[in-house]
Amino acid sequence: MIKLRIPATSANLGAGFDALGLALTYYNYVEMDESDRIEISSSDGIPVPTDERNLIYISAKDLFEVCGKKLGGLRLVQTNNIPMARGLGSSSACIAAGLVGANMLLGSPLTTDDLVDLAAQIEGHPDNTAPALLGGIVTAVFDGRRVHWVKQEVFTKLRFIALIPDFELKTEDARSCLPKEVSHKDAVYNLSRAALFSASLLTGKFENLRTAVHDKLHQPYRMELIPRCREVFDIAYTHGAYAAYISGAGPTVMAIVDEENTYFAGKMRFSLSNAGLGCWSVHEFGIDNEGIKEISDK
Ligand code: HSE
Repeated sequence: MIKLRIPATSANLGAGFDALGLALTYYNYVEMDESDRIEISSSDGIPVPTDERNLIYISAKDLFEVCGKKLGGLRLVQTNNIPMARGLGSSSACIAAGLVGANMLLGSPLTTDDLVDLAAQIEGHPDNTAPALLGGIVTAVFDGRRVHWVKQEVFTKLRFIALIPDFELKTEDARSCLPKEVSHKDAVYNLSRAALFSASLLTGKFENLRTAVHDKLHQPYRMELIPRCREVFDIAYTHGAYAAYISGAGPTVMAIVDEENTYFAGKMRFSLSNAGLGCWSVHEFGIDNEGIKEISDK
C-alpha cells in the first residue's frame, strides 16, 4: 500500500499565465494498491468518480501504458481536502498522485522529468502539475512534448491567504472566455510583470508584488465570471495585502500577506461577512517546498 500526500497549487500568480505556479501547505491524500479490479472510495465522503473515469486511475493507466504495461485494476482511497473547481489544483493533485503512485508500483522506471512531462501532457499546461510534483515555486515552459522547468524553494515570511467562494468555476469555462489573440502591447505588459513577480518574490522585494500580479491575458475576463470578485480584491488590499490575484482559473482569490500582518485572516472574515460576502471562506497557507511525497501515516 502506497500512501501519498499531494499539495494544492496556485497557478499563474497574476501575469504568469500557464507558466508560473507554487505549491501550498494544503493537502490531498491518496492510498494506492494494485488490484485485479477498480476499487475507488473517498475516506471523507466527498463524491469522486469510482470507475475508469477517475483522474487518478486515468493518470496511473497512462503511466503504465508509457512503460509498456497494462493496468488491470487499482485500489484507491482518496482524501479530498482541496476543493474541486476552485483554482487550487485539485485535478493536478489527482494527476500527480496517479503518475507517482503508478511509477512506484512499477519500481520507479520513470524520472522526475518524465513525470513532469507526462503530467503536463495530461493537463495541457504545466503550471499546476509541476509544483504539485516538485513543490516550491516553479517556472515552466511546455513546448507541447516536454516541460522546461526551474523549481525554486521559497523561504519567505509570506503567508498565502486563499479566499474561496462556495461556487465552482470549471477551468474549461474559465479558459473559453479568453481572447484568441492579444496585442503586442498587452503581451509585453504581461511578460514584464511575470518576470518581475518571480524576481521580487525570491529576492524579498515584496513591494513590487502588487504591480507584478497585474495582467491583461486572463484576470480581466475571468473577473466577469466571478461575482463581486473586485470587491474581494479591494478588501484584501484595504487590509494590507502585498498582492491579490485570481488563483489559477479561479474563482479563488489569493492574497499574499506578510506574516507580521498578524490578523489579516480574521479581518478578512469580518469584512467579507459585513459586506455580505460570507460565502467566501478564508484559509491561511504557507509554501510547500517538497511537492508530492510518500508518507507513512496521514
Ligand atoms: N493556467 C491555467 C489557467 C491554470 O489559468 O487556465 C488552471 O488550470
